[in-house]
Amino acid sequence: MNPLLIVLVGPMGVGKSTVGALLAERLGTGYRDTDGDIVAEQGRTIAEIFVDEGEEAFRAIEKRAVRRALAEHTGVLSLGGGAVLDAEVRALLAGHRVVYLSMDVEEAVRRTGLNTARPLLAVNPRKQWRELMEARRHLYESLATAVVATDGRTPEEVTRAALDAL
Ligand code: S3P
Repeated sequence: MNPLLIVLVGPMGVGKSTVGALLAERLGTGYRDTDGDIVAEQGRTIAEIFVDEGEEAFRAIEKRAVRRALAEHTGVLSLGGGAVLDAEVRALLAGHRVVYLSMDVEEAVRRTGLNTARPLLAVNPRKQWRELMEARRHLYESLATAVVATDGRTPEEVTRAALDAL
């Protein structure tokens, strides 16, 4: 385990970026997120990559971004919500300190709603959320060294709970 690295996983909209930045500030370390790395590297938004090349191509780009960030970064690192779908990404995470930020489906629908910037929620968000959570919850849980529930909590409260759980 790299004791200087904390990886945040969990569904989109759960607050990985907000909590990740707060956590890094509290710990006096750097913050980085793979979505941000991808946008900077590709010079286009995540939604544009999905439209231009499809999800499979995005996942390949994402896998490279995760591998690079894990090798380079110390501090707090957030992964895109779907990064854990890839078996190689899961293998890369083994042995790292991984904090799973969780929320239930209704909280997810409330927070993200119909979101055209998030390609996976562009139609019928409740149905899509149910399917996403069913497919992914066990993956997040299997990787997590700590689980922090975010339902009904502010980012400050989640950050405090994450610090307690470390
Ligand atoms: C995705 C989550 C997004 C982004 C992409 C796909 C997913 O990241 O990587 O839209 O499959 O759950 P965030 O979790 O940071 O929103």
